Amino acid sequence: MVVTLIGFRGAGKSSVAPRLAARLGWDWIDADAELTRRLGRSIPDIFAREGEAAFRRYEADLLAELCSRDRLVIAAGGGAVLNAETRRRAQAAGPVVWLRASIETIWSRIGHDLGVGGGRPALTSLDPRAEVELLLTQREPLYAEAASIVVETDDRSVDDLVRTIADQLPIPPEMTA
Ligand code: S3P
Repeated sequence: MVVTLIGFRGAGKSSVAPRLAARLGWDWIDADAELTRRLGRSIPDIFAREGEAAFRRYEADLLAELCSRDRLVIAAGGGAVLNAETRRRAQAAGPVVWLRASIETIWSRIGHDLGVGGGRPALTSLDPRAEVELLLTQREPLYAEAASIVVETDDRSVDDLVRTIADQLPIPPEMTA
């Protein structure tokens, strides 16, 4: 069984994953960091040189592999749910947790990192704020469709989120440390 954390950029997936994994006694992996490590290139570099479609293929292949592992918490990239096969695989592999955040929360966490010179590649030609608004509107139905557990993250600490998620996970006690 694996637990997959989904949600928009800035929702807290990468902060929650290691702490949730520690609580379960499982491994964890951040899909973006793992792709960066395997390809030896940063995410903005992959987008710049090969384009978003290539990045999405790498991402889907990696998640297919990770979903076949056991006792693993995955922090998926914010756009991973765009791929229907990835959504299906994650659902089949175990609980899928949507870390839901409002536009204000997302903007306050990652706004500085978007746009020219930011560490996160542009996903549209819109200005960063309009991009977040558009993509959030487009993706919320996909996060909702994929998720078996939804957790509101606004104004909540990582500790609080981990406790809330762990309490809702349908994991038999013998699978946790
Ligand atoms: C993306 C989110 C990023 C990363 C890439 C594309 C997206 O992951 O995969 O920049 O489409 O929302 P995080 O959600 O970890 O920032």
